[in-house]
Amino acid sequence: MDHVNKAIAEARAARRAAAPEAPAPQAPVSLLRKAGIARPAPPAAPKAEAAPRPASSAVTRDAAWAALPDFRPDPELLEHHRVLTQHSRHEGAPFDVMRTKLLKQMRDRGWTRLAITSPTPSCGKSTVSANLAFSFSRQTETRAILCEMDFRRPSMARLLGMKRRQSISRVLKERAAFEEHAVRYGDNLLIATNAGPVRNPAELMHSTSAVSALRRIEETYAPDVMIFDMPPMLVADDTIAFAPHVDAVLLIAAAEATTAREIDLCEKDLADRTNVMGVILNKCSHPGQDYGYGYGYGYEPSAA
Ligand SMILES: Nc1ncnc2c1ncn2[C@@H]1O[C@H](COP(=O)(O)OP(=O)(O)O)[C@@H](O)[C@H]1O
Ligand SMILES: [Mg+2]
Repeated sequence: MDHVNKAIAEARAARRAAAPEAPAPQAPVSLLRKAGIARPAPPAAPKAEAAPRPASSAVTRDAAWAALPDFRPDPELLEHHRVLTQHSRHEGAPFDVMRTKLLKQMRDRGWTRLAITSPTPSCGKSTVSANLAFSFSRQTETRAILCEMDFRRPSMARLLGMKRRQSISRVLKERAAFEEHAVRYGDNLLIATNAGPVRNPAELMHSTSAVSALRRIEETYAPDVMIFDMPPMLVADDTIAFAPHVDAVLLIAAAEATTAREIDLCEKDLADRTNVMGVILNKCSHPGQDYGYGYGYGYEPSAA
């Protein structure tokens, strides 16, 4: 992993030297921190939308949550798809650590919207998103929403074994109500998936309807965290189009597949639009970092 860290650091240094007047990226990259390159904590940037905190009272919010259909995924299917955080167990522990750090950082800054993306497909975005979401669901004080946003290759419904045909894209187009396209897992996780690909996904990501639909969802359900499972960045500009509407982004890199240059490119593009909270090195199995199931994470967000 060291050569990746070193290459990212060098690329960033070169970028800064080429544009000395440009402001430093707002958030550190965990891999750099792991390499011992200290970076200051990111400043508390304002929320992307400057949306008012949800206005619903606790009673109406609770009623809205309770009204959504109950979703009970098959634990064996989840495990088969490497979702290991439904219950507290050793194999899912890295996600619980990640969840706790993320939650603290996001709360401290007043952030609620977190996008998860990667340079190329199959780095593990959906797997990480689902693991984080179920990990959040075990925090009784926290309410989370997991939302499919990869409208080119939506996979969350299949990954979770969702039988209902949900279309969160129709909600984002303001053609359907959220309650028709979301389910509730337990008391504090809502899941909104998309049954199939969407025509013109880039248009949807750029749309004002998506922005107002999200704001309405927040007003009604008042989640502490919304996790958006995004498309890969180097395939289309959907994620970049949506980035200004989230508070923070996590980049997923696949060990031995994602290059330092790809990470650097994506981080640079994202840092102009939102806060990059860190890079998760997925699919790595280091000696001495055995989390089981081949999971190993180079995630270490900045100190708050
Ligand atoms: N840590 C990991 N180790 C091994 N395989 C993984 C890991 N994370 C994800 N995968 C597998 O990689 C494939 C792509 O994962 P997925 O989450 O769908 O990627 P993405 O959403 O980035 O396209 C899936 O088969 C998934 O089970
Ligand atoms: Mg995916």
